[in-house]
Amino acid sequence: MAETVIDVQKLTKRFGDFTAVNHVSFQVEAGEVLGYLGPNGSGKTTTIRMLLGLLQPTEGEALVLGKSIRTQAELIRPQVGYMSQKFALYDELTMRENLDFYAGIYGVPGKQRAERVREVIASLELGGRENDQAGELSGGWRQRLALGCALVHHPKLLFLDEPTSGVDPSARRVFWDLIYGLAAQGVTIFVTTHYMDEAEHCHRAGIMFRGNLLALDTPSGLKASALPGAAWDVSPDHGGASLITALTALHDVPGVVRAGLASDQLRVITAPNAHTGESLLSVMKKAGFPDAKVEQVEPTLEDVFIALAGHDATV
Ligand SMILES: Nc1ncnc2c1ncn2[C@@H]1O[C@H](COP(=O)(O)OP(=O)(O)O)[C@@H](O)[C@H]1O
Ligand SMILES: [Mg+2]
Repeated sequence: MAETVIDVQKLTKRFGDFTAVNHVSFQVEAGEVLGYLGPNGSGKTTTIRMLLGLLQPTEGEALVLGKSIRTQAELIRPQVGYMSQKFALYDELTMRENLDFYAGIYGVPGKQRAERVREVIASLELGGRENDQAGELSGGWRQRLALGCALVHHPKLLFLDEPTSGVDPSARRVFWDLIYGLAAQGVTIFVTTHYMDEAEHCHRAGIMFRGNLLALDTPSGLKASALPGAAWDVSPDHGGASLITALTALHDVPGVVRAGLASDQLRVITAPNAHTGESLLSVMKKAGFPDAKVEQVEPTLEDVFIALAGHDATV
């Protein structure tokens, strides 16, 4: 059986009357990449800070690497890596000096430091820029260096808080490849993001909204359980101006769970066995769109999020 690396039971954090994290429970197994998805303010960072023992929970408990976050946090921190949302690099130090500095902070013995720094440079493909000042690096390189700093003491467990925020899509892809490489080496990874599509990169993904963990499953499991019906792309084919008319027509049709705008077409979610392509086409015809096109599509995690969080989520 897989080893449970993080075991969270009813973890709750209140700030005064405000509940930032509400009775959240989940487990993370060794070697897993667990994504923690949610929009800004949903409680992701607060959860990580509690798991690192940096913030005391109001209620609940969690074991991280078998240690209590309430009473044994000082035993947890040396064994985990943490890349915080506002990761701190020293701009005037070079890449190599930053890594060496963090190796010192994490207590890597002096004799092993140079070796570990070399290993991290090789495994994160940072070679060639070791002597550049951190302040001169682009966003993607800074992000990879920050990951290196969190890895320099060879942790078994990594917490990455929105590591891909603000970097361009190609750097995001490279970064996810690195995360996968680390997981393949046995590192367990807890990673937060507000980009819903990034859940596709995770073994399992949890969806947070306003402090509540709404669901946690594999990407395909989330799609199957949160969206038991079907997803459709509907193009009214009458020019952009009529999209709203088509949307209004679809809203009132029995069996249509949700209809929303998706760029220049409509995304429609229907209840299980409620509709076929033909039945939706006939709805569109009656609404005055004889040339409409309807295609069944794989739901996205954005669809899943909206289905779970409801109309509030679209604001
Ligand atoms: N120290 C604090 N005092 C009061 N409210 C806080 C504090 N830290 C976080 N919050 C609030 O808790 C909510 C969740 O914050 P956070 O965990 O940072 O969300 P996320 O990381 O998902 O963006 C936000 O509404 C935030 O304003
Ligand atoms: Mg955050």
